[in-house]
Amino acid sequence: MLAQFDNSFWMPTQASSYAGRVDWVFYFILTIAAFFFVLITVLMVVFVVRYRRREGQEPQRSAHHNMRLELTWTIIPLILVVFIFVVGFRGYMDIVTPPANAYEILVIGQKWSWAFQYPNGYVDANLHVPVDRPIQLILTSRDVIHSLYVPAFRLKKDVVPGRYNRAWFQATQVNDTEGFDLFCAEYCGTSHSTMVAKVFVHEPTDFARWLEEASQWEGRMTPVQRGSQLVTQRGCTQCHSLDGSINIGPSFKDVWDRTVQGKTTFRDGSTLASLLKPDYTPEQYIAESIYRPDARHVAGFSPAMPSYLGQISENDVTALIAYFKSLDPKYKAEAEAATVAQPAAETQPAVSPAGGAADTQPAGPEPAGPES
Ligand code: CUA
Repeated sequence: MLAQFDNSFWMPTQASSYAGRVDWVFYFILTIAAFFFVLITVLMVVFVVRYRRREGQEPQRSAHHNMRLELTWTIIPLILVVFIFVVGFRGYMDIVTPPANAYEILVIGQKWSWAFQYPNGYVDANLHVPVDRPIQLILTSRDVIHSLYVPAFRLKKDVVPGRYNRAWFQATQVNDTEGFDLFCAEYCGTSHSTMVAKVFVHEPTDFARWLEEASQWEGRMTPVQRGSQLVTQRGCTQCHSLDGSINIGPSFKDVWDRTVQGKTTFRDGSTLASLLKPDYTPEQYIAESIYRPDARHVAGFSPAMPSYLGQISENDVTALIAYFKSLDPKYKAEAEAATVAQPAAETQPAVSPAGGAADTQPAGPEPAGPES
C-alpha cells in the first residue's frame, strides 16, 4: 500500500500516461487558491487592526473609482482562468479521445461485481492489461448506474445501463502482483462498497501469456474447478459467502445440502421441500435461482440478485452445481465424479481418475486460474 503513495505527496501513484497532467492542473489551481487565500486573509487582519475605530478619528471617505485597480483585478484573473481552461481542455480532449490502435476490453458492471471481457471472449473479475499500450474500455451496465474508478490512472467513467461508454488509458507502471485498486464510484445499492476489483499491469509478453493461459485453462477444467473459477470470476462471493456467514444472499457453504433436503424456506412461508418433485429437481432450483432469481425469494433476504440468463451458459450452471456439491463433504465425491462439463477436460493434468482427485480439488474461494 505504501508503495502507491511514494512519489506524490497526497495523491496515489501516477500510473497512467495522463495522470501527471491531471495532477498538474490540480496543483496549479490549488496553488493559486492557496496564494489568494493567504493574501486576502492577511490583508483583512491587517486592515481590521490598522483601520479600527479610534477616539477622535473621523472615518475617511471611500474611493469610488480607480481604473488601474479595476483593470488589474479583472485582467489578472482573466489570464489565469483562460490559462486553466486551455490546459484543462487539452487534457480533457486527450482523456476522452482513445488512440486508434487501442486494445479493447468490454466492461460489464452489475450489482455488485465487475466483469472484464477480453477480445477472445475470456471473462475475468479483475482487469489485466499490458503496460505502455493504450487500452480502450467499452463500459456498460446490466442494472443500475455504476462508475468505474481507478485512482492511480486518474480514470473515472460512468457505467450506464443501455449505453456503451468509452474510456481509455495507458498504464505506465508494471504492477502484476498487488494490482492497482479499482472501485465503483457511484452509489449503487447495499453492497456498493464491495464492488471492487484490481488492475494488474503486465509486461506485454507476460500479458499475452496470462491471457493465453487463462483462456485455455477455462476449457481444461473439471466442473468443480470451473465452478470455483466462475464463483470468483463473476464476483458471486460479493454477496454469497463460502464460510456460512450471512451476507446479501444465502451462503454457498451448505447450499447444496439445503437444496437437496428442501430445507430452504421462502418469503411466502413455503419450503423448497414442498416443491421438489421428479420434474423439479434440486438442480432445477439452482438453475432457476441463477436465471430467474425473482421466481422465489429465500426468507430472510431482500431480493437483490440480477438474472444471469444469457450470461452464464448451461454448462457453467452444471459446473456451479458440481462446485456447490464439492463444498459439502457428503456430496464431494459425487461432484468429482460428475461428467465433464467442458470439452477436453480429460487433458486436465491436475485431476487423476476416480477418488485420487479429491485432494487436488480447490474447495475454497481461490481461483483455479493460473495466477494462483
Ligand atoms: Cu456499483 Cu457502486
